[in-house]
Amino acid sequence: QPINSTEKACMLRPLEAPFRYLFGPGPSNVPPRILAAGGRPIIGHMHSEMFGIMNDIKKGIQYAFQTSNNMTLAMSGSGHTAMECAVFNIVEPGESVLVAINGIWGERVAEIAERMGAKVHTLFKTPGGHFTNAEIEQALAKHKPVLFFLAHGESSSGLVHPVDGVGDICHKYNCLLLVDSVASLGAAPLLMDQQNIDILYTGSQKALNAPPGTAPISFSERACHKMFNRKTKPVSYLLDMTHLSNYWGNDGKPERKILTCLLKGLENSWSHHTEVAEYLWKGLEDLGLKLFIKDKDLRLPSVTTIAIPEGYDWKELLAYIMKHHQIEFTGGLGPSVGMVLRIGLMGYNCNKANAAMALAALEDALKQCRKSKA
Ligand code: GLV
Repeated sequence: QPINSTEKACMLRPLEAPFRYLFGPGPSNVPPRILAAGGRPIIGHMHSEMFGIMNDIKKGIQYAFQTSNNMTLAMSGSGHTAMECAVFNIVEPGESVLVAINGIWGERVAEIAERMGAKVHTLFKTPGGHFTNAEIEQALAKHKPVLFFLAHGESSSGLVHPVDGVGDICHKYNCLLLVDSVASLGAAPLLMDQQNIDILYTGSQKALNAPPGTAPISFSERACHKMFNRKTKPVSYLLDMTHLSNYWGNDGKPERKILTCLLKGLENSWSHHTEVAEYLWKGLEDLGLKLFIKDKDLRLPSVTTIAIPEGYDWKELLAYIMKHHQIEFTGGLGPSVGMVLRIGLMGYNCNKANAAMALAALEDALKQCRKSKA
């Protein structure tokens, strides 16, 4: 029986993608200029123009990461692709890995490392917690890992983790430092070279305001030395850096426009995200809400977490706001589910008018969704 008419009809139906205010932890709205770039003609992946575009992307990532690493490129795929690329290329089966878990991203890295046969050790805090350098050093001394993972922007809890000094401690124990900045890059200060980060990756769909599907990543010399002197081949062919680095002429995936939102400068982007976040935080407190991360210095400016207010069903609040305001906020993620509501204002979305709109929508939902006390 040939598969036919109804399947064909759905291919003929025009694509529908309604406008939504994407004020969650990502994806964020994409500015018209970047959307338009997606409509340009296709060129071949080996055309000279493509290599020119890739070189520009590499320079843009070097700027955004604040690194002079030659081994800098953009992977095709989500942040998870870069996460797997880092772990698969650096770690060999049987080697020890230390993962800081204080939310979802450490959990994911631990699982990825475990699946590829690494010996995984973890440092653990409940969502909202962070690790001192002394705690990190103690665990490095004990487990002697080849790689230590830390999420700079823990989007599940809204925490921005301190990174100063962590790279030096790792190097003292002959360990490489891997940092996830998917939710924080461009919104909170991070200086790859100065902070001695060996492998750093991010995503395109957060403060960089590009469509999802591209993940910038960079490797230090130290990381390259480990990854190109391994005894076994990485478990993934697609993510093998020996091929990828060759294609990028480092020894890319095109998206020249990805970094144009940082054109006004990284410092301006960081301070702008902080200014808007502070405006939002004050508005939330004025509504009587409690911010989940108490210490202001540890709050991620791009993703704000709010303790779920008593007397409300968080799913109902989110559904109400989507239905009546066309705005996406989200609940928690992984271990923070049921603990928090999350509002993300990133890059193009990050301005006081949007923060005011988010506050008004939340105020309305708080009025309409209160559960009558039984
Ligand atoms: C996704 O990245 C999230 O934080 O929900």
